[in-house]
Amino acid sequence: MFKIVQRSCLAPGVHRFEVEAPLVAGAAKAGNFVIVRTAERGERIPLTIAGADRERGTITLVVQEVGKSTMEMGQLEAGDAFRDLLGPLGTPTRIERVDNLVAVAGGIGVAPLLPVIRAHKEAGSRVTTIVGARTKDLLIMCDEVEAASHEVVYATDDGSYGYHGFVTGALQRLLEAGRKFDQAIAIGPVRMMQAVCKVTAKHDIPTIVSLNAVMVDGTGMCGCCRVTVDGEVKFSCVDGPDFDGHKVDFDELCARQAFFCDEERVAKDRYQRGEGACRCQER
Ligand SMILES: Cc1cc2nc3c(=O)[nH]c(=O)nc-3n(C[C@H](O)[C@H](O)[C@H](O)COP(=O)(O)OP(=O)(O)OC[C@H]3O[C@@H](n4cnc5c(N)ncnc54)[C@H](O)[C@@H]3O)c2cc1C
Ligand code: FES
Repeated sequence: MFKIVQRSCLAPGVHRFEVEAPLVAGAAKAGNFVIVRTAERGERIPLTIAGADRERGTITLVVQEVGKSTMEMGQLEAGDAFRDLLGPLGTPTRIERVDNLVAVAGGIGVAPLLPVIRAHKEAGSRVTTIVGARTKDLLIMCDEVEAASHEVVYATDDGSYGYHGFVTGALQRLLEAGRKFDQAIAIGPVRMMQAVCKVTAKHDIPTIVSLNAVMVDGTGMCGCCRVTVDGEVKFSCVDGPDFDGHKVDFDELCARQAFFCDEERVAKDRYQRGEGACRCQER
């Protein structure tokens, strides 16, 4: 069991958990993730390690409620525990100093981005971070992002804070103003990462994306997280989750992500109606 020592709410439906996992905390690097289960027959949920405190032996996970399992997680309190926690998994993000890094986060993507920009700043890169959300109340972890960046640009879809529009518009505006970046990193919804890559490709800026392909085992054995990068099949859990965004087949990734949406909708509806586990777990 992996005890939750602290839990807070960052925004509606977005929760931060500090979890006791000393071995994971000791080995975690920026870009690693874990797979957690809340119960013995629960779904396996991949979550990026948003922070690790080696002295306290804890890791930080930030979870957005999108379906049944993440909604169940949202009910957990300090003192509760995750049933299983496997990690650190994935190939860590390659951190090499660059003169000017632009890091772009959409929504919950800010949590996985945080350890990456922290590591870049420590390595001596000048970090410009663009953070986007639908509205001001959904902008999370702003203090941490500001501490880990030299400059932060906020964007909201409804214009309630910062640039009025998508993160791609804010990035485009910086580039049109003559800003030069040697590298970009984008983490967020798949279509957002694809849109960032379209902008950076026009300006020849190498761009890393962190792919949230559907995963099961997380160790390269089931093939569920298959993605196509530069025409080659890769397993996101072991070969990634970071890849060269200009070479990713995003349309295929989107199609694969939607593969189980009927089952996911049924499970979510049943959970919201208080009918308990979906049928596949009752067998
Ligand atoms: C490497 C990686 C890191 C991630 N890090 C975070 C994070 O730090 N915080 C966070 O809130 N979310 C993160 N996610 C996404 C998170 O795993 C999904 O939101 C979660 O699995 C949804 O489960 P659900 O039962 O609540 O929703 P469901 O109703 O089952 O699914 C909703 C949507 O979530 C995605 N999803 C569902 N099951 C999986 C799965 N097994 N693996 C990946 N995606 C899935 C699909 O796109 C699906 O359409 C990450 C995903 C990956 C692959
Ligand atoms: S999750 Fe099974 S191969 Fe990657």
